[in-house]
Amino acid sequence: MLYPVVWKNNSVLLIDQTRLPNEYAVVEIHRSEDMAEAIRTMIVRGAPAIGVAAAYGIYLGAREIETSDRQEFLHRLEKVAQLLRSTRTTAVNLFWAIGRMMQTAYRSLGTIAEIKQILLETAQTINAEDIQTCQQIGDHGLEALPKTPEKLTILTHCNAGALATAGYGTALGVVRSAWREGRLTRVFADETRPRLQGAKLTAWECVQEGIPVRVITDNMAAHCMKQGFIDAVVVGADRIAANGDAANKIGTYGLAIVAKAHNIPFFVAAPISTIDVALAEGSQIPIEERHPVEIYQVGNTILTPSGVEFYNPAFDVTPADLITAIITENGAFAPGELIKSKLK
Ligand code: MRU
Repeated sequence: MLYPVVWKNNSVLLIDQTRLPNEYAVVEIHRSEDMAEAIRTMIVRGAPAIGVAAAYGIYLGAREIETSDRQEFLHRLEKVAQLLRSTRTTAVNLFWAIGRMMQTAYRSLGTIAEIKQILLETAQTINAEDIQTCQQIGDHGLEALPKTPEKLTILTHCNAGALATAGYGTALGVVRSAWREGRLTRVFADETRPRLQGAKLTAWECVQEGIPVRVITDNMAAHCMKQGFIDAVVVGADRIAANGDAANKIGTYGLAIVAKAHNIPFFVAAPISTIDVALAEGSQIPIEERHPVEIYQVGNTILTPSGVEFYNPAFDVTPADLITAIITENGAFAPGELIKSKLK
């Protein structure tokens, strides 16, 4: 199994996702500032994975604080948390994991050394829980997928795989479970402009496991659906509002519209930590905007004439009424019933 975030020998090992598929490189992180940079530059990316990485980032920051004064320790730890929170915008798992770590620190009444130890253990727990959660999502997804045809072709967008989580994946977790049970013919992977997580990462993960994968450019999805190639769409999510509206990689919303037009079920697979109950609806989800270089430059080639303007939102929001079901570790829920998933 593929683990993009690993605690080993007192440091965090990250698979460098900016180098895949051409190079498999591992980056060793010792300091919270370096973890923040790794999240910002997308060495580690994907909502659950950045949550796990940030949790370790809090511990790395904590262990650098040399004081025996609890107030000073917490004050300096809060600065570490602020830095990590500033790295990405949309994925709520980042804020959720940092919140859980900070709550642990505030609630621990032991010595500073004991607080540091419990922070490490909490980060490791978040890490281990995410792997288990993804496996549960995969298996619940299997139950939610259409019963016919017996073998399905699933379209996915971006990378919601092992690389985007602590392991196994959310949308690709469903794909993995379907493959294991003999219910999958192949995956169609949208290339996912502008950063190409589908072409680079989803395709790479599938190849590692011998799962048949066909890469298409994003503008081919509607045509493939019309041709009858696609039985279901399964995507991940970065933040889900209380009403079931779901933010995911830019292009997901369009995909949901064309899936509806072709009567193809559209599933969102995500852990419960992705649900932001503080937000009533998707319009309240903050959308990260990234540098236009992602649009105008591929490798060393500039694609556009000078003098043009750019708009580069990294995520969009799919309205709940386009979503067949949201698959969580507690089961698959109609978007309107999502709140029940948290209560189970
Ligand atoms: O910008 P990224 O690569 O971090 O975006 C990732 C996605 O949009 C994923 O689909 C989402 O985080 C779900 S990951 C299980």
